[in-house]
Amino acid sequence: MRNYDLEFLKRFSIVIVILAVITVGLIIFAYFLQHSIPTEPSPKAVQRVEQRIAPLGAVYAGSTGASAQAAVAAAAAAAAAASGAYGGTLDGKTIYDNLCTACHTTGVGKAPTLDHGHWDARIAQGKDTLYKHAIEGYTGPDGGIMPPKGGNAGLSEEQIHAAVDWMLSNLK
Ligand code: HEC
Repeated sequence: MRNYDLEFLKRFSIVIVILAVITVGLIIFAYFLQHSIPTEPSPKAVQRVEQRIAPLGAVYAGSTGASAQAAVAAAAAAAAAASGAYGGTLDGKTIYDNLCTACHTTGVGKAPTLDHGHWDARIAQGKDTLYKHAIEGYTGPDGGIMPPKGGNAGLSEEQIHAAVDWMLSNLK
């Protein structure tokens, strides 16, 4: 080997070594960077984790959402039941005048009008049967159609009782 070849090899190896050191330094620096900057989890992963750690049932006590909702629903149902049709009145005449009169005053569709001739046989069945027929609906031998609660499902049973009572005490 000639002298300048040796010289070249020496310099070339030094350059290689320096480059290798820089490479290792960059790798270490990149490694350090990767660990010092917090990674952002993918939204899908977050979603999956949330699904896995979601509680099996909502807590149903105290003023938590579930019991509060149930309380509101119960209050609404109670209010709806309490208000009833025609303001929940138990005045038989009011109920009759608002609804039953349409058929029972005119006698339309074979509805019995308020006279004893139409009612004595019906009364003989007993008041409870009349109540029941008025609440559940009825088609008797005459073939007329008494709709359940006169067609207003918002009427309570007490209101129907009141209306029937009023009808029975106002027969001519
Ligand atoms: C759409 C017409 C109609 C309305 C509204 C109506 N009824 Fe009637 N109702 C009839 C008819 C028709 C009959 C006779 C059914 C038969 O005997 O075939 C009848 C029969 C009855 C009877 C006798 C049942 C029996 O066992 O003989 C009662 C009690 C009665 N209605 C109460 C009421 C009351 C109370 C209301 C109002 C809340 C009302 N009806 C509203 C058509 C109506």
